Amino acid sequence: MLKNLVIVVVVVLGLVASPADAQNIKETPEQKAFKFRTSLFQTFSWKLGQLHSAQSASDETGFINHANDLLVLAKMTGEGFEIANSMPEGTRAKSEIWEDPEGFSSKTQTFVDAVSSLTEEGAMESFKVRDFASKNCGGCHREYRTKK
Ligand code: HEC
Repeated sequence: MLKNLVIVVVVVLGLVASPADAQNIKETPEQKAFKFRTSLFQTFSWKLGQLHSAQSASDETGFINHANDLLVLAKMTGEGFEIANSMPEGTRAKSEIWEDPEGFSSKTQTFVDAVSSLTEEGAMESFKVRDFASKNCGGCHREYRTKK
């Protein structure tokens, strides 16, 4: 009776677990962190685009909403780099991130502060997407991301 139950449970679990789940389980913590941070950085690019579109449409409410979204995301930057030397295949993270943790976290903080200022009323007027990206995104990339 118990044996049958065990067999049923095993069969059901086997049906529920998809190949994608199996792949997730096989990933190392470093690979998961790499996937997390690259997805996060892609949302940064998306949100910069949304900020620019809102500005072009003179939509201040939209601009402030996107800035608030980006602020929440920006605060997660450090989470992707918590495992020391997590540089799996395909990464462009430099080892300096972990050799100089204070420098890296100060770049993160500069970025968070810059995004935070975009959430303030009137920030849309003086927003320049290229300058913002070059200073705050590029400011970190130039030191902590390898060139292609
Ligand atoms: C504090 C540092 C830091 C800041 C700030 C930062 N980035 Fe990055 N970014 C990195 C690092 C490091 C990588 C490489 C990560 C890896 O490959 O493991 C990266 C990778 C990327 C990637 C490539 C993702 C992929 O698919 O491989 C994009 C796109 C990107 N960043 C966009 C941005 C944008 C846009 C901003 C600003 C709004 C920004 N980043 C701010 C450090 C930063």
